[in-house]
Amino acid sequence: MDQLETAAAVWAMADYRRVAERLMPAAERLAATLGVGRGRQAIDVAAGTGNVAVCLQEQGWSVYATDVSARMVELGRARTGSAVRWDVAAAEALPSPDESVNAVVSNFGLIFAVGVDEALQEIQRVLRPGGTLAFTAWTADGYMAAMTEVMLAHLPTAVGPSPIAWGDPAIATVRLHRFADVSVRRWSLPWHFDSPAAGRLFYEQGSPAHAAAMAALEGPQATAMMDSVERHLQTLADADGQVRIDAEYLLITAVAARPEGSGDEG
Ligand SMILES: C[S@@+](CC[C@H](N)C(=O)[O-])C[C@H]1O[C@@H](n2cnc3c(N)ncnc32)[C@H](O)[C@@H]1O
Repeated sequence: MDQLETAAAVWAMADYRRVAERLMPAAERLAATLGVGRGRQAIDVAAGTGNVAVCLQEQGWSVYATDVSARMVELGRARTGSAVRWDVAAAEALPSPDESVNAVVSNFGLIFAVGVDEALQEIQRVLRPGGTLAFTAWTADGYMAAMTEVMLAHLPTAVGPSPIAWGDPAIATVRLHRFADVSVRRWSLPWHFDSPAAGRLFYEQGSPAHAAAMAALEGPQATAMMDSVERHLQTLADADGQVRIDAEYLLITAVAARPEGSGDEG
Protein backbone atom coordinates (compact mmCIF):
# COMPACT_ATOMS: atom_id res chain seq x y z
CA MET A 1 0.00 0.00 0.00
CA ASP A 2 1.48 3.40 -0.88
CA GLN A 3 1.12 6.45 1.38
CA LEU A 4 -1.98 7.80 -0.39
CA GLU A 5 -3.74 4.43 -0.23
CA THR A 6 -2.87 4.29 3.45
CA ALA A 7 -4.30 7.80 3.96
CA ALA A 8 -7.51 6.80 2.17
CA ALA A 9 -7.85 3.71 4.36
CA VAL A 10 -7.09 5.57 7.59
CA TRP A 11 -9.62 8.32 6.96
CA ALA A 12 -12.36 5.76 6.30
CA MET A 13 -12.00 4.52 9.90
CA ALA A 14 -14.29 5.79 12.69
CA ASP A 15 -17.39 7.95 12.30
CA TYR A 16 -15.65 11.10 11.09
CA ARG A 17 -18.87 13.17 10.98
CA ARG A 18 -18.59 13.87 14.73
CA VAL A 19 -15.18 15.47 14.17
CA ALA A 20 -16.47 17.33 11.11
CA GLU A 21 -19.16 19.00 13.25
CA ARG A 22 -16.47 20.35 15.59
CA LEU A 23 -14.42 21.68 12.66
CA MET A 24 -17.37 23.55 11.12
CA PRO A 25 -16.71 26.96 12.76
CA ALA A 26 -13.24 27.02 11.19
CA ALA A 27 -14.77 26.12 7.82
CA GLU A 28 -17.19 29.04 8.23
CA ARG A 29 -14.27 31.34 9.00
CA LEU A 30 -12.40 30.15 5.91
CA ALA A 31 -15.45 30.74 3.74
CA ALA A 32 -15.95 34.20 5.25
CA THR A 33 -12.36 35.00 4.31
CA LEU A 34 -13.16 34.27 0.67
CA GLY A 35 -16.44 36.23 0.68
CA VAL A 36 -19.23 36.10 -1.86
CA GLY A 37 -18.56 33.90 -4.90
CA ARG A 38 -20.86 35.22 -7.64
CA GLY A 39 -20.25 32.05 -9.64
CA ARG A 40 -16.49 32.02 -9.17
CA GLN A 41 -14.81 28.62 -8.97
CA ALA A 42 -13.36 27.10 -5.82
CA ILE A 43 -11.84 23.70 -5.14
CA ASP A 44 -12.11 22.28 -1.60
CA VAL A 45 -9.04 20.08 -1.18
CA ALA A 46 -9.17 17.21 1.33
CA ALA A 47 -12.78 18.26 1.73
CA GLY A 48 -13.80 15.46 4.08
CA THR A 49 -17.59 15.54 4.23
CA GLY A 50 -17.65 19.02 2.67
CA ASN A 51 -17.59 21.55 5.53
CA VAL A 52 -16.10 24.39 3.50
CA ALA A 53 -17.74 23.26 0.27
CA VAL A 54 -21.18 23.71 1.87
CA CYS A 55 -20.33 27.20 3.17
CA LEU A 56 -18.86 28.38 -0.13
CA GLN A 57 -21.73 26.99 -2.18
CA GLU A 58 -24.14 28.93 0.05
CA GLN A 59 -22.06 32.06 -0.62
CA GLY A 60 -22.53 31.67 -4.37
CA TRP A 61 -19.31 29.89 -5.29
CA SER A 62 -19.23 27.09 -7.83
CA VAL A 63 -17.54 24.38 -5.75
CA TYR A 64 -15.61 21.26 -6.66
CA ALA A 65 -14.82 19.10 -3.63
CA THR A 66 -12.10 16.45 -3.62
CA ASP A 67 -10.71 14.04 -1.05
CA VAL A 68 -8.34 11.08 -1.16
CA SER A 69 -10.86 8.93 0.75
CA ALA A 70 -13.71 7.42 -1.25
CA ARG A 71 -15.68 7.08 2.02
CA MET A 72 -15.42 10.84 2.65
CA VAL A 73 -16.55 11.59 -0.91
CA GLU A 74 -19.51 9.26 -0.45
CA LEU A 75 -20.52 11.04 2.79
CA GLY A 76 -19.91 14.44 1.19
CA ARG A 77 -22.06 13.65 -1.84
CA ALA A 78 -24.86 12.48 0.43
CA ARG A 79 -24.59 15.78 2.35
CA THR A 80 -24.48 18.27 -0.52
CA GLY A 81 -26.31 16.49 -3.34
CA SER A 82 -25.57 17.87 -6.79
CA ALA A 83 -25.03 21.42 -5.48
CA VAL A 84 -21.33 20.49 -5.15
CA ARG A 85 -19.30 18.41 -7.63
CA TRP A 86 -17.25 15.66 -5.95
CA ASP A 87 -14.34 13.43 -6.93
CA VAL A 88 -11.88 11.15 -5.20
CA ALA A 89 -8.51 12.85 -5.67
CA ALA A 90 -5.31 13.44 -3.74
CA ALA A 91 -4.11 16.96 -3.01
CA GLU A 92 -0.93 15.88 -4.79
CA ALA A 93 -2.81 15.29 -8.08
CA LEU A 94 -5.74 17.68 -8.45
CA PRO A 95 -8.15 16.82 -11.27
CA SER A 96 -8.59 20.45 -12.45
CA PRO A 97 -7.13 22.15 -15.53
CA ASP A 98 -4.34 24.72 -15.24
CA GLU A 99 -5.39 28.19 -14.01
CA SER A 100 -9.03 27.14 -13.73
CA VAL A 101 -10.05 28.17 -10.20
CA ASN A 102 -10.25 31.43 -8.25
CA ALA A 103 -9.71 29.80 -4.87
CA VAL A 104 -8.26 26.67 -3.33
CA VAL A 105 -9.48 26.06 0.17
CA SER A 106 -8.79 23.35 2.73
CA ASN A 107 -10.00 23.01 6.31
CA PHE A 108 -7.43 20.93 8.25
CA GLY A 109 -6.96 18.82 5.11
CA LEU A 110 -4.01 20.09 3.05
CA ILE A 111 -1.89 19.69 6.19
CA PHE A 112 -2.22 15.89 5.79
CA ALA A 113 -0.80 15.78 2.26
CA VAL A 114 2.32 13.63 2.46
CA GLY A 115 3.73 15.22 -0.69
CA VAL A 116 3.99 18.81 0.55
CA ASP A 117 5.80 20.15 -2.53
CA GLU A 118 3.61 18.19 -4.96
CA ALA A 119 0.42 19.51 -3.35
CA LEU A 120 1.66 23.11 -3.39
CA GLN A 121 2.70 22.78 -7.04
CA GLU A 122 -0.73 21.43 -7.87
CA ILE A 123 -2.44 24.29 -6.06
CA GLN A 124 -0.32 26.82 -7.94
CA ARG A 125 -1.06 25.07 -11.22
CA VAL A 126 -4.87 25.11 -10.82
CA LEU A 127 -5.14 28.63 -9.35
CA ARG A 128 -5.65 31.52 -11.69
CA PRO A 129 -2.96 34.19 -11.25
CA GLY A 130 -4.11 36.36 -8.34
CA GLY A 131 -6.31 33.54 -7.00
CA THR A 132 -6.35 32.70 -3.30
CA LEU A 133 -5.19 29.70 -1.30
CA ALA A 134 -6.86 29.63 2.14
CA PHE A 135 -6.44 26.81 4.64
CA THR A 136 -6.34 25.99 8.33
CA ALA A 137 -3.63 24.18 10.32
CA TRP A 138 -3.42 23.21 14.00
CA THR A 139 -0.82 25.33 15.77
CA ALA A 140 2.51 23.63 16.47
CA ASP A 141 2.31 24.68 20.14
CA GLY A 142 -1.38 24.06 20.80
CA TYR A 143 -3.70 21.32 22.04
CA MET A 144 -3.76 19.21 18.85
CA ALA A 145 0.03 19.17 18.68
CA ALA A 146 0.19 17.96 22.29
CA MET A 147 -2.46 15.31 21.61
CA THR A 148 -0.47 14.15 18.57
CA GLU A 149 2.64 13.82 20.76
CA VAL A 150 0.72 11.72 23.27
CA MET A 151 -0.25 9.31 20.49
CA LEU A 152 3.12 9.28 18.76
CA ALA A 153 4.82 8.21 22.00
CA HIS A 154 3.04 4.86 21.56
CA LEU A 155 3.64 4.43 17.82
CA PRO A 156 6.61 3.44 15.67
CA THR A 157 8.49 6.38 14.14
CA ALA A 158 6.15 8.16 11.73
CA VAL A 159 6.91 8.14 8.02
CA GLY A 160 6.50 11.40 6.12
CA PRO A 161 6.00 15.01 7.22
CA SER A 162 4.01 15.84 10.33
CA PRO A 163 0.73 17.71 9.69
CA ILE A 164 1.62 19.79 12.75
CA ALA A 165 4.61 21.36 10.93
CA TRP A 166 2.16 23.56 9.00
CA GLY A 167 1.16 25.06 12.36
CA ASP A 168 4.54 26.76 12.75
CA PRO A 169 4.17 30.16 11.01
CA ALA A 170 7.86 30.19 10.05
CA ILE A 171 7.65 26.79 8.34
CA ALA A 172 4.37 27.68 6.65
CA THR A 173 5.82 30.94 5.34
CA VAL A 174 8.92 29.20 3.93
CA ARG A 175 6.81 26.51 2.28
CA LEU A 176 4.64 29.20 0.63
CA HIS A 177 7.59 31.17 -0.73
CA ARG A 178 6.29 30.95 -4.31
CA PHE A 179 3.03 32.66 -3.30
CA ALA A 180 2.47 36.37 -2.63
CA ASP A 181 0.80 38.16 0.31
CA VAL A 182 1.10 35.29 2.79
CA SER A 183 -1.00 35.99 5.88
CA VAL A 184 -1.11 33.88 9.05
CA ARG A 185 -3.76 34.52 11.70
CA ARG A 186 -4.35 32.62 14.93
CA TRP A 187 -7.83 31.45 15.99
CA SER A 188 -9.23 28.72 18.22
CA LEU A 189 -12.03 26.19 18.20
CA PRO A 190 -13.92 25.17 21.35
CA TRP A 191 -12.99 21.55 22.05
CA HIS A 192 -15.06 20.53 25.05
CA PHE A 193 -15.80 17.21 26.72
CA ASP A 194 -18.04 16.46 29.70
CA SER A 195 -15.16 14.49 31.25
CA PRO A 196 -11.79 12.96 30.28
CA ALA A 197 -13.57 9.61 29.84
CA ALA A 198 -16.06 11.24 27.44
CA GLY A 199 -13.11 12.69 25.52
CA ARG A 200 -11.52 9.25 25.28
CA LEU A 201 -14.76 7.80 23.92
CA PHE A 202 -15.04 10.61 21.38
CA TYR A 203 -11.55 9.86 20.06
CA GLU A 204 -12.09 6.09 20.04
CA GLN A 205 -15.34 6.35 18.08
CA GLY A 206 -14.93 9.49 15.97
CA SER A 207 -11.25 10.10 15.23
CA PRO A 208 -9.84 8.21 12.24
CA ALA A 209 -6.28 8.95 13.43
CA HIS A 210 -6.92 7.38 16.84
CA ALA A 211 -8.87 4.47 15.32
CA ALA A 212 -6.02 3.75 12.89
CA ALA A 213 -3.40 3.96 15.64
CA MET A 214 -5.42 1.59 17.81
CA ALA A 215 -5.78 -0.85 14.91
CA ALA A 216 -2.03 -0.72 14.28
CA LEU A 217 -1.18 -1.57 17.90
CA GLU A 218 -1.66 -4.85 19.74
CA GLY A 219 -4.69 -4.89 22.09
CA PRO A 220 -2.94 -3.94 25.37
CA GLN A 221 -0.78 -1.36 23.58
CA ALA A 222 -3.87 0.24 22.05
CA THR A 223 -5.42 0.40 25.52
CA ALA A 224 -2.21 1.93 26.91
CA MET A 225 -2.29 4.63 24.21
CA MET A 226 -5.89 5.52 24.98
CA ASP A 227 -5.09 5.50 28.73
CA SER A 228 -2.43 8.14 27.94
CA VAL A 229 -4.97 10.15 25.95
CA GLU A 230 -7.38 10.09 28.90
CA ARG A 231 -4.62 11.01 31.37
CA HIS A 232 -3.67 13.94 29.13
CA LEU A 233 -7.29 15.11 29.15
CA GLN A 234 -7.32 14.78 32.95
CA THR A 235 -4.43 17.27 33.15
CA LEU A 236 -6.60 19.74 31.21
CA ALA A 237 -9.84 19.22 33.17
CA ASP A 238 -11.40 21.94 35.30
CA ALA A 239 -12.24 21.44 38.99
CA ASP A 240 -15.75 20.30 37.99
CA GLY A 241 -14.24 17.54 35.79
CA GLN A 242 -15.20 19.19 32.49
CA VAL A 243 -12.57 19.55 29.79
CA ARG A 244 -12.87 22.95 28.11
CA ILE A 245 -10.07 23.37 25.61
CA ASP A 246 -9.50 26.14 23.09
CA ALA A 247 -7.84 24.25 20.24
CA GLU A 248 -5.68 26.84 18.51
CA TYR A 249 -5.23 26.88 14.76
CA LEU A 250 -3.76 29.08 12.07
CA LEU A 251 -5.80 30.45 9.20
CA ILE A 252 -3.31 30.90 6.39
CA THR A 253 -3.97 32.73 3.14
CA ALA A 254 -1.69 33.29 0.16
CA VAL A 255 -2.11 34.62 -3.34
CA ALA A 256 -0.99 32.84 -6.51
CA ALA A 257 1.72 34.93 -8.09
CA ARG A 258 0.45 37.12 -10.90
CA PRO A 259 2.57 37.34 -14.05
CA GLU A 260 4.03 40.83 -14.41
CA GLY A 261 1.79 43.29 -16.24
CA SER A 262 -1.39 41.18 -15.97
CA GLY A 263 -4.71 42.57 -14.71
CA ASP A 264 -6.96 41.45 -11.84
CA GLU A 265 -7.57 37.78 -11.20
CA GLY A 266 -10.56 36.45 -13.08
C1 LIG B 1 -9.29 16.39 9.42
S1 LIG B 1 -10.06 15.89 7.93
C2 LIG B 1 -10.69 17.47 7.35
C3 LIG B 1 -11.85 17.28 6.41
C4 LIG B 1 -12.67 18.53 6.08
N1 LIG B 1 -11.89 19.51 5.37
C5 LIG B 1 -13.38 19.10 7.27
O1 LIG B 1 -13.42 20.33 7.43
O2 LIG B 1 -13.98 18.33 8.03
C6 LIG B 1 -8.70 15.59 6.85
C7 LIG B 1 -9.12 15.10 5.48
O3 LIG B 1 -7.94 15.05 4.66
C8 LIG B 1 -8.09 13.97 3.75
N2 LIG B 1 -6.76 13.68 3.22
C9 LIG B 1 -5.70 13.17 3.88
N3 LIG B 1 -4.64 13.09 3.06
C10 LIG B 1 -5.04 13.59 1.85
C11 LIG B 1 -4.39 13.79 0.60
N4 LIG B 1 -3.11 13.49 0.43
N5 LIG B 1 -5.11 14.30 -0.42
C12 LIG B 1 -6.42 14.60 -0.26
N6 LIG B 1 -7.09 14.42 0.89
C13 LIG B 1 -6.39 13.95 1.95
C14 LIG B 1 -8.74 12.89 4.58
O4 LIG B 1 -9.33 11.87 3.81
C15 LIG B 1 -9.73 13.70 5.41
O5 LIG B 1 -10.98 13.77 4.78
